[in-house]
Amino acid sequence: MKAIVAERYGTPDVLQLKELPTPVPKPGEVLVRVHAASVNDWDWENLRGQLLLTRLLNGLFTPKIRILGGDIAGRVEAVGSQATRFQPGDAVYGDLCMSGFGAFAEYVCAPETCLAPKPPGMTFEQAAAIPQAGMLAVQGLIDVGGIQRGQTLLLNGAGGGVGTFALQISRLYDARVTVVDKGSKLDMLRALGAEHVIDYLNEDFTGSGRTYDLILDAKMTRSPFAYLRALKARGSYVTVGGHIRRLLQLGLLSRPIARFSDKRVRLVGLKPNKDLAYMNQLFEEGALLPVVDHVYTLADVPDALRRFGTGAHTGKIVIRVS
Ligand SMILES: NC(=O)c1ccc[n+]([C@@H]2O[C@H](COP(=O)([O-])OP(=O)(O)OC[C@H]3O[C@@H](n4cnc5c(N)ncnc54)[C@H](OP(=O)(O)O)[C@@H]3O)[C@@H](O)[C@H]2O)c1
Repeated sequence: MKAIVAERYGTPDVLQLKELPTPVPKPGEVLVRVHAASVNDWDWENLRGQLLLTRLLNGLFTPKIRILGGDIAGRVEAVGSQATRFQPGDAVYGDLCMSGFGAFAEYVCAPETCLAPKPPGMTFEQAAAIPQAGMLAVQGLIDVGGIQRGQTLLLNGAGGGVGTFALQISRLYDARVTVVDKGSKLDMLRALGAEHVIDYLNEDFTGSGRTYDLILDAKMTRSPFAYLRALKARGSYVTVGGHIRRLLQLGLLSRPIARFSDKRVRLVGLKPNKDLAYMNQLFEEGALLPVVDHVYTLADVPDALRRFGTGAHTGKIVIRVS
C-alpha cells in the first residue's frame, strides 16, 4: 500500500510517499481501506516534535508514529478474529489518535471499538472531518461546559475544526454566540450563525468588559485570570487546547479558582469517538455539516500539513485517499 511516512521529526518536507506492506488486523481489529482522512493539531505536533511532551510520548529522537493521521473514513476490507461489529464492505469512520494513528495511508488496522458506521448520506470526506474536532466540540460544550439553552457563549479560535462544529451545535441550544478568530474567517462564521464576531488581531475579548456564561477555547493563549474577567457570575471557561504553559497554569489553578469563586475553568480530556452516534444523528437531521476547507490527495499530505501549520484553514483540511 501507499503511505505517507515520517522517519524523523521536522517540517512537512521530511514526509515521504512510500510503498509498505498492507497491515493485517489483530484480534478485535478490522482492516479499513481508507477513502478519506483529515488533519488535526496532534498530527502537526507529532510531525514536528517540538514539545518535550510529544517527544516523551512519541520517541525522544525518532518518531514511533511513522504514519500520521488520526481521523479516517473508509470501508472495512477484512475483519480480525474476535471483531464482531462490522462486515467487509461496511462504511465506517473514527479517530485512531489513541490507537496508533496511521490514517495517511491506503489501509489501516483499527480496533473496531474506534469506529462508527458512516451514514449513507455522508460523504467519506465529510465523515473524515468529524471525529476528533467533533468530539472536542461536543465534549467541550456539553459534557464539560454543560451548555444551557439561551446562554451567551464565546468561541475562541472558532474558525478551525472544533469551533465550526461547536458553533453549529450551540445553535441547537439557542445560544447567543460571539466568535473570535482572524478577520478572514469571520464572514464564514457569521454565515454559520455567529451573532457577534471579533478579530483577535484587533481586539482582546478578555479586556472588553463584555462577559459570557460559557467560553469554549480551541487556543488558550492567556492566563486563566484573564478568562475569568470575561465570565459572568457562575460562568465557565472550558479549553480544549492551547499553549502548554497556559494549560499547565489552568491545571494548577482550576481547583483554587473553584474554591474561592463561583466561576469554573476546565480542560477537556478527549474521549475519542464517544459521541459519533450523536454526530450521525445531527447530520441526518440536517443540523450539522462539516466545514471542509480544502481536499488534498494522499501524495499532497505535506502541502495539507503546511497549510494547517499556517493556520490559514477554515474548518477542516481533508485528504482524499482513494
Ligand atoms: N484536550 C484534548 O484532549 C485534545 C485532544 C486533541 C487535540 N486537542 C487540541 O484541540 C485543539 C484543536 O482545535 P482545532 O481543531 O479547532 O484547531 P484549528 O483547526 O487549528 O483551529 C484553531 C483556530 O484558532 C485560531 N487561532 C490561533 N491563534 C488564536 C488566538 N490567539 N486567538 C484566537 N484564535 C486563534 C486559528 O486561526 P489562525 O491560526 O489563522 O489565527 C484557527 O482558526 C488544539 O489546540 C489541539 O491541541 C486537545
